[in-house]
Amino acid sequence: MNNLLGDDETSQQNLFTPDFGQPPHSYVGRDDMLRDVRTGLGAGPRDPRFTSVLLGPRGSGKTVTLNMIEDVAYKAGWLVLPLDASTSNIVERLEERIEWARDENETLTAAPRGGTDTTTTGVRVLGAEWQRRVVRAIEPKWGARRQLTTLAEHAAANGSAVLLTVDELHSGGVEELRRLSSDLQHITKREQRPLAFVGAGLAEMKHTLLEDKKMTFFQRCQSFDMPPLTRADAMKCLSKTVRDAGGEFGGNALSDLAEAAGPLPFRMQLLGYYAWTVADAPHSPVSETAADQAINETDQDMHQRVFSPTWHTLNEHEQSFLRALSESGGHASPQQIAGRIGGPISASSIARADNHLVNVGCIAHEPDGSIRFGPVMAHESVVWFAERERQYAGTAAHESASRRAGAEAGARQRCSKHMPRANARCILRAGHAGRCRSRW
Ligand SMILES: Nc1ncnc2c1ncn2[C@@H]1O[C@H](COP(=O)(O)OP(=O)(O)OP(=O)(O)O)[C@@H](O)[C@H]1O
Ligand SMILES: [Mg+2]
Repeated sequence: MNNLLGDDETSQQNLFTPDFGQPPHSYVGRDDMLRDVRTGLGAGPRDPRFTSVLLGPRGSGKTVTLNMIEDVAYKAGWLVLPLDASTSNIVERLEERIEWARDENETLTAAPRGGTDTTTTGVRVLGAEWQRRVVRAIEPKWGARRQLTTLAEHAAANGSAVLLTVDELHSGGVEELRRLSSDLQHITKREQRPLAFVGAGLAEMKHTLLEDKKMTFFQRCQSFDMPPLTRADAMKCLSKTVRDAGGEFGGNALSDLAEAAGPLPFRMQLLGYYAWTVADAPHSPVSETAADQAINETDQDMHQRVFSPTWHTLNEHEQSFLRALSESGGHASPQQIAGRIGGPISASSIARADNHLVNVGCIAHEPDGSIRFGPVMAHESVVWFAERERQYAGTAAHESASRRAGAEAGARQRCSKHMPRANARCILRAGHAGRCRSRW
């Protein structure tokens, strides 16, 4: 894409990427995991990491990491076939991608190995002469298994490999993923051909796809949990991104932001983006006041873009669990949660809800067994959802539950501490952990 800004303006751009799937200016906190996956890919089909699955909550950086792995493979001259399971017919789309690669090979001129060309179809067809020959040999009428086998055979003969990636694996249809699993199991595991696989999806897959008896291939993939970002990772990313665009931090702004970032890269990008904008950087340094405001803006965005969509994917038991945690002030023992939910929900259903909520990042278990909100849900958001639902509640049962929740919410004291920089009062509960907030 042509740059529409002049050189001066380019260096003053906001370089943060508060979106999904956007390559960050500074990629942090994933060195060990990337090294592990790269080593596995380089080692070949006998290495369990040759077929890997990245698991993590929304905004933990799965797509970005998948793209980095694709780039590494592409630069090594591999044929890379990137797919996404969020829309149906994945096997047919795989066949189409191979066909596109074939057609485009006829019209494109050779590029040096290790080039960065990406075709409009997303299939990377340039980079190695063997790819040009093999995709021409593939017959469109063949099924996916035969096409992939042929690609892998030619790759093996040329000392190369094929990498198939599937993002959003958790949202794929069961039947078509079983088909894909059976093809991959045959080609990579049984015949040991160099067809590598890296999938990515929400950690709930541990209890669906990765447990499905008809998807042995996925069960045998090496799974990697996306590591939580550390405070040091956030310091490094925030500081590099601001400084490379010609900005600087004032007072404790950098450490305030790093402290507020938590484990999710998406949240860290939001914080940096707002801090830069609010401060009018690089004309002014990113001050502590700007950092405070950025934290408030970020909390609101997280509510709309992460917590709210996540809440709507939860079933009633899971939502009841979170309401119970919220009514307990955001920190409770399993017994307290069970006591609050009580009634018709069985202990095993509560345990199932607990398991799912951990996997999606809504709650986390402390070492002493108690439960807190995780990075993908906030106490204040659950209060908000509960209050909204109460407005629509018509039945007696709903009303009594709402009255109870309302009475308890009312009984909780607000912190109300005055925040001079934001010129507002803290809206959190009295005795809350961490910093005060004027809104969320
Ligand atoms: N390691 C990282 N360092 C810095 N920023 C990152 C890193 N990983 C991801 N990001 C930033 O976080 C944002 C979210 O990442 P990404 O879209 O990869 O998450 P995801 O796990 O795929 O989310 P979803 O489950 O919603 O698809 C990206 O736009 C990117 O800019
Ligand atoms: Mg993603």
